[in-house]
Amino acid sequence: MASGRPVLIFEAPLDSCLYRDALRLREKILRRPLGLTVSNEELADDTMRQHFCAVDCGAVVGTVSLRPLDETTLHLKQMAVTEPMRSARVGSRLVNHAERWGAAAGFRVMIAHARVGAEGFYLKHGYVQAGETFFEQTIPHVLVRKLLVRKRLL
Ligand SMILES: CC(C)(COP(=O)(O)OP(=O)(O)OC[C@H]1O[C@@H](n2cnc3c(N)ncnc32)[C@H](O)[C@@H]1OP(=O)(O)O)[C@@H](O)C(=O)NCCC(=O)NCCS
Repeated sequence: MASGRPVLIFEAPLDSCLYRDALRLREKILRRPLGLTVSNEELADDTMRQHFCAVDCGAVVGTVSLRPLDETTLHLKQMAVTEPMRSARVGSRLVNHAERWGAAAGFRVMIAHARVGAEGFYLKHGYVQAGETFFEQTIPHVLVRKLLVRKRLL
């Protein structure tokens, strides 16, 4: 059950305590249920990403990261919210923050590889599905994309 307290969104610089907590959360939510761990390739990829986390009462309860693909396109990755905090708009706050950050930094398009079953979350945020289902991390995904509109960073 969500707490009702305001959840704050912070940048989580590589090797900060926030980043390490977010990494643990990613492993617990996105990798272990699939029998996987965060790979060395993923850790190397992390060095090229911008990381954000949602914090409730000092604890990281959600995370997302952004990887520039080229000058116009960002790849939104590792979207995860702890189970007790789901359906309380934490994921929405993370996506909105990521999009505002991306637009303010001059990016025009956000893409994500949505897990089949979670694509509805992205469609609710204005993403459209592009292309066929593909497998990643052993499970089916679909590509979703959205044009970014420049807004003020909150
Ligand atoms: C997907 C996830 C990040 C959503 O976070 P959340 O904080 O629970 O989502 P929100 O409360 O912000 O939901 C916003 C809207 O999306 C909808 N939504 C959330 N998860 C959804 C899902 N899996 N499928 C369809 N719609 C979903 C909500 O119902 C809500 O709709 P509304 O605006 O009509 O009320 C979270 O459920 C999660 O971490 N899941 C496990 C990991 C995962 O699948 N990550 C995505 C990898 S691509």
